[in-house]
Amino acid sequence: MSDNTKYRTPLRSCLLLGSVLLAACSQSPQQGSSDAPLQPRIEPENWPMQASPIARSAAIERKVSALLSQMSTEQKVGQIIQADIASVTPQQVRQYYLGSVLNGGNSAPGRDNRVGAAAWLELADAFWQASTDTSDGRPYIPVFWGTDAVHGHSNVKGATIFPHNIGLGAMHEPQLLQAIGRATAVEMQVTGLDWTFAPTIAVARDDRWGRTYESYSEDPALVASYAPYILQGIQGMVGAEDFLRGEHMLATVKHFLGDGGTVAGKDQGDNISTEAQLRDIHALPYYAAIKAGARVVMASYNSWHGSKMHGFAPMLTDVLVKRMGFDGFVVGDWNGHGQVAGCTPTNCANALLAGLDMYMAPDSWQTLYANTLAQVRDGRISMARLDEAVSRVLRIKAEMGLFEQVRPSQRPLAGRYELLGNASHRALAREAARKSLVLLKNNQQLLPLRAGGRVLVAGDGADNIGKQSGGWTLSWQGSGNSNHDFPNGESIYAGIQHAVQAGGGSTELSENGRFSVKPDVAIVVFGEEPYAEFIGDRSHLAFDDNRALQILKQLKAQGIPTVSVFLSGRPLWVNPELNQSDAFVAAFLPGTEGGAVADVLFRAADGSVRYDFHGRLSFSWPDNAKGEPLNVGDANYNPLFAYGYGLSYRDNTVLATLHENAGISAAAMLNSSRYLYAGKAVTPWQLQLSDAGTITVVADAQQRSAAGAVTAIATDRLQQEDSVTLRFDKAATVRLGHADGIALDLARQSNGDMALELEYQVVSVAAGTKVELGMQCGDNCASMLDISSNLQAMQGKGWHSTRIALRCFSQANSNFDISRVTQPMVLRSDGGLVLQLANVRLAQNEGNATCGN
Ligand code: BGC
Ligand code: BGC
Repeated sequence: MSDNTKYRTPLRSCLLLGSVLLAACSQSPQQGSSDAPLQPRIEPENWPMQASPIARSAAIERKVSALLSQMSTEQKVGQIIQADIASVTPQQVRQYYLGSVLNGGNSAPGRDNRVGAAAWLELADAFWQASTDTSDGRPYIPVFWGTDAVHGHSNVKGATIFPHNIGLGAMHEPQLLQAIGRATAVEMQVTGLDWTFAPTIAVARDDRWGRTYESYSEDPALVASYAPYILQGIQGMVGAEDFLRGEHMLATVKHFLGDGGTVAGKDQGDNISTEAQLRDIHALPYYAAIKAGARVVMASYNSWHGSKMHGFAPMLTDVLVKRMGFDGFVVGDWNGHGQVAGCTPTNCANALLAGLDMYMAPDSWQTLYANTLAQVRDGRISMARLDEAVSRVLRIKAEMGLFEQVRPSQRPLAGRYELLGNASHRALAREAARKSLVLLKNNQQLLPLRAGGRVLVAGDGADNIGKQSGGWTLSWQGSGNSNHDFPNGESIYAGIQHAVQAGGGSTELSENGRFSVKPDVAIVVFGEEPYAEFIGDRSHLAFDDNRALQILKQLKAQGIPTVSVFLSGRPLWVNPELNQSDAFVAAFLPGTEGGAVADVLFRAADGSVRYDFHGRLSFSWPDNAKGEPLNVGDANYNPLFAYGYGLSYRDNTVLATLHENAGISAAAMLNSSRYLYAGKAVTPWQLQLSDAGTITVVADAQQRSAAGAVTAIATDRLQQEDSVTLRFDKAATVRLGHADGIALDLARQSNGDMALELEYQVVSVAAGTKVELGMQCGDNCASMLDISSNLQAMQGKGWHSTRIALRCFSQANSNFDISRVTQPMVLRSDGGLVLQLANVRLAQNEGNATCGN
């Protein structure tokens, strides 16, 4: 195939010129009238043809047409809408004939992300029963339930959590994916669910993307080699009796198409690659997946040259269906149809017309249902197109055997809770985690360690199963988890402790790296905080949490050999940490089997090596923090560690001291989700003290405001000066701002139910002290919430986090502009307050955010 792209470059600049010029820029009259949104061109002939591997079954086709002929228009429209369990009841599923439900990352039975497995099964029964009650004469069509079982059945407490895809990619062992897919499908059936929104077969090409860890590799060929195995694990083999049945179930490949190739790695952004790149990089895994029997494709949030995929017929229909041989159904992403030009979450005929077969309309389903019904009635949506979408959904339900199925709790694996996190699944997860570890540095062959010595285990990732599991774990962002939320998991520290004790040695766990007995060696486990989707987007790839660096430096200064275990969803620029470590392991997000780390790091008691390193990078590791796309095969490929890199124990390679020039200015390190970190303002923010009309920027360990009303004092919490004490003696304001008036657009975060999180302790607050917390949007634009009684209540209660939902700021002041925040935190008090503050950041509302008092 040659790069015979029909996409013409002027098109994009036309789009940017605004609506007046749109008509003049229109290049292909056959693509609709001048009032239709302009779309870039795809030439289907440039895309290879393949046939569906699944032959139509006459019996199923008869079943589908029989159902269609019995269904009312209402029933048909309901069949192609999927609602979220947080916004729909079983009764409504029945009333609106909904074809499907899902649980989003933060939706769980009873709105409790950590509820027991039995509640899931009970709810699955309730939905199934409501949908199959045919007492009013409706046809019998069971609902099905989709969930993001993206690294194991990861929404359910007790399930086995496998490494995220980036780690699985580093194994370079596609066959193991089959066992993982099967184990995941089994655990899902325990809770009565029958459909997963996995695997993600994105090819992440820009690691600033917050979903990089959901991608197996930057190399399309590797992703394409994985897709069939994971699908076969979840769905079974095409043609086999238990395909989509028995212990197998329905999978989804996502997100179609080009999610991993957006400009600057922006989630839900625009992909401006050529048609050939779209095909050869991003579509390659889809060809493999469809050939292996993928029955559901999820449309992507991203656009291609400005056209959102959910409304882009050239891809959803002309390529996916007509060239790739896909004859399952296309499900949308979470209100993704609402982003199509001219659409809203509750109104979008164009998505259906473009080839979407099922709307994912979590909270918008009810109005969307009414609008879609009206559009069918007035002919905007033809009955033929509706019938086609409905048939596609019904066909898959029939292939799954849903029409003959008993209710969820009566299926063979249902309620067998002992299967969640069972020994063989955990052994499999441990094997995968072990094989995914990549050894980047091993100077003087420090590793493998003998198990007999004194081992210090430090870092905030050491005893933290939530952190080692990452996003999409119990909660959407993977935040809010503690070790006891993982009854079947083991932290990295616990695994080390077992291994060392077995070898006759001893361990000391110390988050901040201070020890009571000088160790022979120290293992420091650190890395990124969990995140998901756009919350994980970054503008650069510097690892900017310097706590571990300080620990490593202190240890090194005392002559203690150091091993770093780095937890991350992507390669990050860590040259300073690499320099302070004798050995360095990229562990990615290994999941609940933390013991895997010790399996590889430590020798057996008899001194033999138990497991050598097996992982090799499936993403190129950068030598600077700029974050520009860096992919194997690039013309000027200059990684620090190339694609495929990874040491073994037989390698005696010395990594010389690396340069420590990040390649970006301090100001470029704007991290949109962290404002104050370890007591210090995160660049480019400044901690500002204001009284008597003067602003003083905190620059010293002890800083007084101009008139002395407030003082900021760097204070130790866990580590040296890792928090700041704010002492308000008189009326004053403390804020995070910037002299140049940098503004943040937090509209999307606000709509996504994010919150401003403060980690603090109230040292003292005088009775009757008024304290307000808010944000500013320019000089005379602020929204302040009264938190006085909140602080009174927290006095003397020690450290804790408070979340204020972002929407509260807009609600409290209708003039407040959340899309232009100049001071993301403003704290005002009239005196009589001593508050110690460690962190201020954006966080997911875990259901406990407030609006202040
Ligand atoms: C996610 C859902 C999540 C929701 C929270 C969506 O973008 O995909 O799974 O629960 O946001 O608002
Ligand atoms: C994500 C999908 C996910 C869906 C349901 C979306 O926001 O992009 O990957 O399957 O939510 O949670």
